[in-house]
Amino acid sequence: MRELSPIIALDFASLEEVKAFLAQFPADEHLFVKVGMELYYAEGPAVIRYIKSLGHRIFLDLKLHDIPHTVESAMRVLATLGVDMTNVHAAGGFEMMQAARRGLGQQARLIAVTQLTSTSEEQMQSDQNIQTSLQESVVHYARLADRAGLDGVVCSAQEVGLIKEATQPDFICLTPGIRPSGSDIGDQKRVMTPGQAAQIGSSYIVVGRPITQADHPLQAYQAIKQEWSGHDQ
Ligand code: C5P
Repeated sequence: MRELSPIIALDFASLEEVKAFLAQFPADEHLFVKVGMELYYAEGPAVIRYIKSLGHRIFLDLKLHDIPHTVESAMRVLATLGVDMTNVHAAGGFEMMQAARRGLGQQARLIAVTQLTSTSEEQMQSDQNIQTSLQESVVHYARLADRAGLDGVVCSAQEVGLIKEATQPDFICLTPGIRPSGSDIGDQKRVMTPGQAAQIGSSYIVVGRPITQADHPLQAYQAIKQEWSGHDQ
């Protein structure tokens, strides 16, 4: 399953900036946006309600990681906000992921972060004392998330193939680190174009700065959407 709207990462610090950005899109362009920690901690549920009032879908990227009871209760609250997708750290464990699913219910998609893409294999081995390859750890966490009843994982585009082999057919691989060819890669290290991401089987792409920092965000969005959704798998 491929979601045809690229998810726009709304990495802004305030509701005012979000309003100004979204005002550049026609009212009938139904978007899928990502709200991360900075924006949510600054503005709270008001930002979710505002975006929903415009009819857009929301991936609330808060990466919960706590004891199962706390995560279940927090997910119950997030479910009442009507978010369409949210996430946890797979490192919280099988029981925590099951609890998250119970709290959130089945209405929204629930995905897991495996190893953050900012973590190198050396850091994982020394900081977390995990003595396998990074890829093995990522695939292990993806399988665990699948068994715990989650819908998918956030992963680098380079990991999609291995994760698809290890999990159920509809398991979601949501991939950030997307750059249209010829654009500035910023601080991302391993990037793919929307077309490449479609080809290797990503289910969702997350795109931030190539749209939010563009001179013409609507045009940038439409070009990326065209390349992503128009690509034959
Ligand atoms: O601006 P850019 O397209 O790089 O934004 C990508 C978004 O995806 C940011 O919100 C970033 O935090 C998020 N992200 C990422 N890599 C991950 C997980 C999340 O870039 N592994």
